Amino acid sequence: MSEMIWFNGEVLPLAEARIGVEDRGFQFADGVYEVIRFYNGRTFTLSEHLDRLTRSCEGIRLAMPLKKQELMREIGKFIEKSPVREGMIYLQITRGPAPRNHIFAPSRPTVLFYARPLPPVAPAGTAEGLKLISQNDERWQRCWIKSIALLPNVLAKNAAVSAGCDEAVFVEKGIVTECSASNFFAVAGGKVLTHPVGPKVLPGITRLVLMDLCKQLDVPFVERAISEAECLAADEVFITSTTREIGWVARWNDRQIGNGSCGVITRKIHGAYQKLVTERTQ
Ligand code: PDD
Repeated sequence: MSEMIWFNGEVLPLAEARIGVEDRGFQFADGVYEVIRFYNGRTFTLSEHLDRLTRSCEGIRLAMPLKKQELMREIGKFIEKSPVREGMIYLQITRGPAPRNHIFAPSRPTVLFYARPLPPVAPAGTAEGLKLISQNDERWQRCWIKSIALLPNVLAKNAAVSAGCDEAVFVEKGIVTECSASNFFAVAGGKVLTHPVGPKVLPGITRLVLMDLCKQLDVPFVERAISEAECLAADEVFITSTTREIGWVARWNDRQIGNGSCGVITRKIHGAYQKLVTERTQ
């Protein structure tokens, strides 16, 4: 069965979908996106993702072309028909096609989503540790918007991979913000530390779930600016995203983090996360 796409209200083979040359997403990266995980054919935190999508649309002065409930229904129907059971939905909204001009012109937004399979995430603490490398944070001041303009992230990620690492950590004036495609956390003195969301940090949905889990597990969750030096000396470091859940970090800039194995707190939080996923989707 060929891969399908939901494209402006129609479902068609992905290979047949066509975007115009003057789509503002193509010419100006004038759009926003979401990546939503589903397990066993059931979405996880779909409502939270669509709330963030609404905020991202507001952030670029684009009216949400579909109501949240409508989008939820369409995504549900699409996954039901899809052969993919474990995967993600990539959803993108651009301002749509209009004669090229920096000034907004009335246009019909381009809305699309499709499913991609993902391998199952290893049980908490059993995956190999990740390797990180620092990169100068050269992004704009509106990183709370999940914008499709991702070139700084793409370049940072590629620099990391070229250096034999898994992910790039953005550092601005010595302060760690987040990673190229994930949020960043350090554990020190039994507390989970992370930079507040806002100009330089995306309000990650995995981060949101984790905040709640920390409360339930009685693990203090502290949002404040943390320096690179402080993070490098932390007991544990982990990163989070919809696709990877919680990934523990073994090395960063060629230094070992903690004792080089998955830390107790990281394992505990990831275990609770996976339990929640199972409860909600199996
Ligand atoms: N990225 N920060 C950035 C810059 C991200 O791109 C992402 C996710 C996150 C984590 O957010 P969430 O927990 O909601 O997935 C943080 C997605 C997965 C991507 O671009 O593919």
